[in-house]
Amino acid sequence: MNILVLNGPNLNLLGKREPEIYGSKTLDTILNELTDYANSRDAMLFHFQSNAEHELIARIQSVLLESSESNQAIDGIIINPAAFTHTSVALRDALLAVNIPFIEVHLSNVHQRESFRHHSYFSDIALGVIVGLGEQGYKFALDALITKLRNK
Ligand code: DQA
Repeated sequence: MNILVLNGPNLNLLGKREPEIYGSKTLDTILNELTDYANSRDAMLFHFQSNAEHELIARIQSVLLESSESNQAIDGIIINPAAFTHTSVALRDALLAVNIPFIEVHLSNVHQRESFRHHSYFSDIALGVIVGLGEQGYKFALDALITKLRNK
């Protein structure tokens, strides 16, 4: 089973960026731990982070292409769209186009924050949404996605 983890803008700065909100672990550390966890559950993790909306869209669209060395068939997606959560109809449309189940993750509890963070363009089409549990949210999402995909 192949799972794609997508992270949006500014998440490359995890560890340095507002650590009181987003935690002190870097994205690399989070992903290394997540990869080990995925392997222990016989799943393969692929990851892509970008600050550019069009690059995230291109990566989502690429799952439609036949498997090749750089592009394995993806069974499920975990996405933290970061600020694009609140702005991007285009990313939403890309996920609808590929029609692969996905879980939306936010490190912070967006509902305790500014009102512009309360609306997501993804939540109503996601399999599930995990907010406010820090980097553990990615692990919970991975567990849930693997369980769901294996029982389908
Ligand atoms: C975030 C929440 C977003 O509102 C914000 O723009 C981010 C990170 C989170 O993980 O808590 O960049 O998605």
